[in-house]
Amino acid sequence: MDHFTYRDGTMYAEDVSIPEIAKSVGTPFYLYSSAALLHHFKLFDAALASMDHQVFYAMKAASNQAILTLLADAGAGMDVVSGGEYARARRAGVPGELIVFSGVGKTRAEMEIALGGGIRQFNVESEPEMQVLSEVAIKMGQVAPVTIRINPNVDAKTHSKISTGKKEDKFGIPILRAREVFAMAADLPGLKVVGIDVHIGSQLTELEPYGLAYEMVAELTKVLRADGHEISRLDLGGGLGISYKNSDDTPPTPEEYAALVREKVGHLGCQIEIEPGRFIVGNAGILVSEVIYVKSGEDRNFLIVDGAMNDLIRPAMYGAHHEIVPVQQPLDHTNYENYDVVGPVCESGDTFAKGRALPSMLAGDLVAFRSAGAYGAVMASEYNSRPLIPEVMVRGDQFSVIRERPSLDEMINRDILPKWH
Ligand code: LLP
Repeated sequence: MDHFTYRDGTMYAEDVSIPEIAKSVGTPFYLYSSAALLHHFKLFDAALASMDHQVFYAMKAASNQAILTLLADAGAGMDVVSGGEYARARRAGVPGELIVFSGVGKTRAEMEIALGGGIRQFNVESEPEMQVLSEVAIKMGQVAPVTIRINPNVDAKTHSKISTGKKEDKFGIPILRAREVFAMAADLPGLKVVGIDVHIGSQLTELEPYGLAYEMVAELTKVLRADGHEISRLDLGGGLGISYKNSDDTPPTPEEYAALVREKVGHLGCQIEIEPGRFIVGNAGILVSEVIYVKSGEDRNFLIVDGAMNDLIRPAMYGAHHEIVPVQQPLDHTNYENYDVVGPVCESGDTFAKGRALPSMLAGDLVAFRSAGAYGAVMASEYNSRPLIPEVMVRGDQFSVIRERPSLDEMINRDILPKWH
């Protein structure tokens, strides 16, 4: 179901016209549909309904508190990867027992924040981390629930920068050493082993790698139980891909994914924990930008828009494809032209798309970058001293600014001249 559709030639987000929002907020901005967010969350939750499960939204994908509260109210927990994300989740009203803490480099300070505020589990990724967590927990007079993330050495068949389950990746402990490391964890005071964690990568468009990894998890569950460990939770990570192109990619559905989970690990009597990020928010958000200039190069046409690589880094960083569509649909007789869609940042990498066919554009026209909800706003920077752009959410016929555009002064005033100046 698409929540960004055309009515009489104008693109709407749910029941709000996008030019109306642009007029009020200015461009560029991120725009989320609350109905789409809820729809995606519910799809996932419903697909897993026949199993004891909990969805933990991977908030690294988009962490605005308006998104977090919306999902938390619908029953989502949060997967956090930093003290900052933990604090945001708590501020958004998520209770500690619905927060899992992932990541290879948790610091003592972050562990203290989470243990102090309450946490469902730490997904631990190495022996030194285990050691430190044990020390922190003892010092605080607490017992830290832990799962241990294993690295199953499977190829997730995704972009190398977002693959995490191969032996050359920095994540998890090699599955071959799992028994040894679980034994060590069980011996450490202040820790309580509660399960196994695995996450093999992001934007997976095939089920097979999941199948391989989850089979290994099932096997390991039996082995570890025989060793005397309580394995009551399986955190199966996130990573289910979404469609970025209108035409070709058709990733598995949550139903297909859930059927695989049921088949591979459903019989073990564990609680199933899932950490989807992109699936929930990716296609629930767009980036709206205005054409500044249409420039004719020697043999190319450039569409210079006011959004740039600092606002949406995915094309520059991963060669990612985002559909770029006009907010105002062309009249029937409009010519199409091939444009290189670029931002104003001073490097050639600030290119969103090359030779993209779009109706003839004029300065002032609006374009929408589709599928920009996940890893869009959260990966933005102020490169070229461009302030972070606002985020807006729609619900039905209402829209609300959920993060304001900082003024130039707000951005610049954070600099402090050295005291010897
Ligand atoms: N759990 C863990 C431990 C993760 O590391 C991640 C993503 C997720 C869950 C959520 O994965 P998802 O369901 O969103 O695929 N910036 C990149 C994606 C990085 C993903 C990092 N980890 C991009 O823009 O494609």
